[in-house]
Amino acid sequence: MATLGQIIFCSMITLIIIFGAAIILILALSFSGQLSEVKSNDVTPIANLGDDQLLSCFENSEAKPAKFTNMAVSWEKTGLTGSVYRYSAGAPSLLDQAPQFKGRTQLFPDALLAGNASLLLRSVRPSDAGQYTCSMSSSAGSGRVKVQLQTAAYSAPAFNLKGGALVAVAPRWFPKPGVAWSDFFGTVLNGSTSFVKSSVGVFTVISTLQPITDGETYTCRIQNDLVSGVSKATVTDSSVKAKTYFTFNAASSLLTSTHLSMMSSVLCIYYLT
Ligand SMILES: *[C@@H]1O[C@H](CO)[C@@H](O)[C@H](O)[C@H]1NC(C)=O
Ligand SMILES: *[C@@H]1O[C@H](CO)[C@@H](O)[C@H](O)[C@H]1NC(C)=O
Repeated sequence: MATLGQIIFCSMITLIIIFGAAIILILALSFSGQLSEVKSNDVTPIANLGDDQLLSCFENSEAKPAKFTNMAVSWEKTGLTGSVYRYSAGAPSLLDQAPQFKGRTQLFPDALLAGNASLLLRSVRPSDAGQYTCSMSSSAGSGRVKVQLQTAAYSAPAFNLKGGALVAVAPRWFPKPGVAWSDFFGTVLNGSTSFVKSSVGVFTVISTLQPITDGETYTCRIQNDLVSGVSKATVTDSSVKAKTYFTFNAASSLLTSTHLSMMSSVLCIYYLT
């Protein structure tokens, strides 16, 4: 038999737990309403050294306002003293910008008004590789996303015929790639490849395939850990027609987006006998 005291005590505990849970739930809901998600189209981009690279970051709120107001953006790089780029109160805020990013970074003002804080990084250098964090806050909420930038050099080879051999010359590759040739049916062919290293450590790739057959289409794959360039070269009469496409080794699931979910359950079982 439960005494009156026990019943009151248990009811009080139950009420406290229910109120507590309700408060947590209300807080969680109001937060999730405000904290619209900040996302990136590519959290593991691979930049071609010397080229410009976009680091994607945008607000992905469900209730997308026509215009975001009170927009503040901060791009930081892990281990860097100073910022990569900052924007607040309607203007760039670059007093503490790290010297190596001065004059090399920009946001897009029009895109910014639509909640897109993607950063353009000009003329990428090897030292730009690393982890970037884009933090945004606006009338629609706030959030952040991390972008892991890797750098490589890659270029499409030029093909020509020399002394009955098919020669591929690709002027810029880094890290040092491997080269594989195959015929139309995918049979591996025996090419011979040499590399010329430039003063800055970037490789020129020269690969020769012999013998070759007129009318045949050959595949030349130049590949390192980060980038793969696949060229299809068709030999006709004394000319070569070639097309190259690149694929990027999306660097794994280093950065899977995390999702905060709060679940609360309250259970109070008591027996009144
Ligand atoms: C953000 O803006 C950049 C620059 O205009 C653009 O290239 C990119 O596609 C935009 N991203 C989104 C998700 O709108
Ligand atoms: C491949 O070519 C090299 C010379 O370019 C030659 O020494 C080697 O024997 C060839 N290998 C095969 C399997 O044909």
